[in-house]
Amino acid sequence: MSDIDVVGVVGAGQMGAGIAEVCARAGVTVTLFDIEAGIVDRGMKRIDQSLARAERGGRITAGERAEARSRITPATDLRAFADARLVVEAVVEDETVKLDVFRRLDAVVADPDAVLASNTSSIPIMKMAMATNRPDRVIGIHFFNPVPVLKLVEIVPSLLTSERTEQRAREFATDVLGKTAVRAKDRAGFIVNSLLVPYLLAAVRMLDSGFASAEDIDNGMVIGCAHPMGPLRLADLIGLDTVKAIAEAMYKEYKEPLYAPAPLLLRMVQAGRLGKKVGLGFYDYPD
Ligand SMILES: NC(=O)c1ccc[n+]([C@@H]2O[C@H](COP(=O)([O-])OP(=O)(O)OC[C@H]3O[C@@H](n4cnc5c(N)ncnc54)[C@H](O)[C@@H]3O)[C@@H](O)[C@H]2O)c1
Repeated sequence: MSDIDVVGVVGAGQMGAGIAEVCARAGVTVTLFDIEAGIVDRGMKRIDQSLARAERGGRITAGERAEARSRITPATDLRAFADARLVVEAVVEDETVKLDVFRRLDAVVADPDAVLASNTSSIPIMKMAMATNRPDRVIGIHFFNPVPVLKLVEIVPSLLTSERTEQRAREFATDVLGKTAVRAKDRAGFIVNSLLVPYLLAAVRMLDSGFASAEDIDNGMVIGCAHPMGPLRLADLIGLDTVKAIAEAMYKEYKEPLYAPAPLLLRMVQAGRLGKKVGLGFYDYPD
């Protein structure tokens, strides 16, 4: 039985908001942090919209929606995490930013037993563990987007993660949140992104070469292979800045050309076309 009933989430973007929502829906008290009040508010709005969708779809009642919402407190001061028994870091996929967050969490999280988890897609857990004085309590809990919909989590212990930390992280993900857990070694990309990202990059290269249109590439995989969405739409959903960051982290780790970010992806990110979250990527997403 999990003893984790108070959770802090760092980063109120697509993933942080989703993680906060599933925790609150599972009855856990959540603090959701981001660097500015306006950004946390956007995250809370995202949660409101998602809870409203769940109610409309009959997956939760109006009462459950209100209760879940009341369990989430927005914050812009990390000291609000003092009592957290688990913190999930879900800030941008940037090593410098993540290491800084872990240093600060180590200073403010008072419970010596608390689990410090990262939702990173590709940055080695060991790096974040070594930014703290409690590397045995640092672990990867990698959720999938959209968090309220997709059941998988990857549990990623580093060489220094204790068995107890791994067990507590797994129990929380499976018993409390109802997720299905797979265990991956602490290698950039873990299981899913090691397979997925080279495929997404191949689709971007195919588009860039003029081989086929975006719609035809996506239709090929949706209609021909029964994928729920094509690779370019999926890259837009993940966020092109995030896909680029994951590819770079894997390229740095393995030095394999298949992980090298495609030039068109780099140009899209430089142009601020980051995908669905900003309304424009390989496709348009009018509000
Ligand atoms: N997008 C996906 O499909 C997906 C899936 C699984 C895991 N992830 C991982 O989740 C993490 C977040 O991705 P996302 O898609 O939510 O990105 P996002 O761009 O939607 O959100 C990132 C958030 O981090 C915040 N942030 C930046 N610096 C910060 C700091 N110093 N302290 C606190 N917050 C800070 C930003 O303000 C932003 O709200 C990344 O590590 C990413 O690799 C993403």
